[in-house]
Amino acid sequence: MEKLNGKKKINIAVFISGRGTNLKSILNLSKNKNSKYIVKLVICNNNNAKGLKIVKRNKIKFQTVNYEIKRKAENKILFSLKKNNIDLICLAGFMKILSKKFIKKYKNRILNIHPSLLPKYKGLNTHKKVILNKEKFTGCTVHIVNSKLDSGKIILQRKMKVLKNDNEKTLAKRLLIIENKVYPKAILKFISTNL
Ligand code: GRF
Repeated sequence: MEKLNGKKKINIAVFISGRGTNLKSILNLSKNKNSKYIVKLVICNNNNAKGLKIVKRNKIKFQTVNYEIKRKAENKILFSLKKNNIDLICLAGFMKILSKKFIKKYKNRILNIHPSLLPKYKGLNTHKKVILNKEKFTGCTVHIVNSKLDSGKIILQRKMKVLKNDNEKTLAKRLLIIENKVYPKAILKFISTNL
């Protein structure tokens, strides 16, 4: 934890692989003077991730990690997390699965956002499955990461109606706007009840 303006702030590391819209919304809230957290570090496994532009523009410390050998990649990340006194990890479109060992080291300190109403539709291609199953609702979930995929305790969930003419693309686009609102709120909720 860091003291900024005499107040304690939670140090967050955001893990990304791509676009980074959730990172952006997490970052935006942290710019608020009374924010309870700061984005201290961004970890990215993809040198070409669009999200890195946001990181550079905002002058956030970042590390790109080559994931060819997962064990080595995770050791590097763990080193940086320690060095930067990270209290909380937020996965935001991070396309690598963390090892059990890694998760154990940050037990109950890793959050993720998933584009479905968990426990429904864990894993990939959630929007496709929602359309195929003719669901009336979909949504997104921020949850704690445990060793089972998309299965940890739910922090916050938002429901969204599936419209008659929706396809995978329109669903993803509409849901992303909701995701971007929900993630920072979920972080604040998590901080106030757990940290
Ligand atoms: C989001 O849809 C999130 O739910 C999923 O990956 C996507 C990341 O989007 N886990 P972005 O990179 O934050 O724009």
